[in-house]
Amino acid sequence: MNILGIETSCDETAAAIVYGKEEKTSGAPSIKVLSNIIYSQINIHREWGGVVPEIAAREHALKIIPVINNALKKAKILPKKIDAIAVTTGPGLITSLSVGVETAKTLSYAWNISITPVNHIEAHIYANFLNTSNKTNYPALALTVSGGHTMLILMKKLGDMKIIGNTRDDAAGEAFDKGAKMMGLKYPGGPEISAYAKKLKSVKKIQLPRPMINSNDFNFSFSGLKTSLRYCLQKDSCWKKNIPEYCHEYQQAIIDVLIHKTIKAAQKFNIKTVMLAGGVIANTELKHQFKKQIKQKLPNIKYKIPDTEYTTDNAAMIGSVGYFKAKNKHFISWQDLKTVN
Ligand code: KG4
Ligand code: ZN
Repeated sequence: MNILGIETSCDETAAAIVYGKEEKTSGAPSIKVLSNIIYSQINIHREWGGVVPEIAAREHALKIIPVINNALKKAKILPKKIDAIAVTTGPGLITSLSVGVETAKTLSYAWNISITPVNHIEAHIYANFLNTSNKTNYPALALTVSGGHTMLILMKKLGDMKIIGNTRDDAAGEAFDKGAKMMGLKYPGGPEISAYAKKLKSVKKIQLPRPMINSNDFNFSFSGLKTSLRYCLQKDSCWKKNIPEYCHEYQQAIIDVLIHKTIKAAQKFNIKTVMLAGGVIANTELKHQFKKQIKQKLPNIKYKIPDTEYTTDNAAMIGSVGYFKAKNKHFISWQDLKTVN
């Protein structure tokens, strides 16, 4: 099955073609990415220190058709060979989402192709099924960390998802973005903080809290960490010279909480596969420390992360969910397709 994925929930205009099938012998799903086109608006929004919804929507409207055309061209596929269109319907910025949704509706009508709606968070998790023969054993646990979400999701089987942990305030990516802004670093803050943290050479003195690390649930909170950083910066007249150290400690505080809670949940629910998902997973230090700790503390568990190009927003992950939904004929008529927030 060939699926056209469309993603416009925030500031990336993306389209992809994925080819999904069931392996003949094992029946396991196999989803190959034939093209994955992303037009990132980051350089435009950087000037404003964050995403400006109105500008994002206008950019999506300008770029969506060329991006879809490129995805078809790169995959060497004609519209008549597409079996379904998968489009992000939420969560996200409503004006951005609307561009993808309206485009999907129009193409569905014009090309007479079925549509399946996709949840953006679920799609981040399903990026773990792209271009891999590495089987997922269940129950599985997914840590989804993006600009808008920090969630621990229990998957008893494919498609059976239950949120067991959530953020009470800021998401992990949001904490990276806001922390970076406080230190005068560029948007998006995650890659900036990560790059400065790598520059730290000397011994560390600054200490920030690990919020909710020992709470009896699997929830998160990052807003207090951000406030602690603000107080530390206010008290330190030389903070500009110490940016690598602040970045290192701030990043480590986020990493410690994410890893601790995920391992605790994996132990409690007898998890067989731990998967990471979302833009924050692009953080190399987080990936490295996760792998090390899982090996030490949960040696019999499978550990999965998507290839780097499928961690931040992309449409291949939308196609991945789309394949499973299309296989189960979970379609919606173009007249009924709506954004969901
Ligand atoms: O999943 P994503 O691309 O978009 C949303 O669905 O939100 O995630 C974007 C978030 C931003 O907050 C960004 O700062 C963060 O992912 N991010 C990172 C890194 N690369 C992107 N955070 C930490 N380290 C990184 N290397
Ligand atoms: Zn995302």
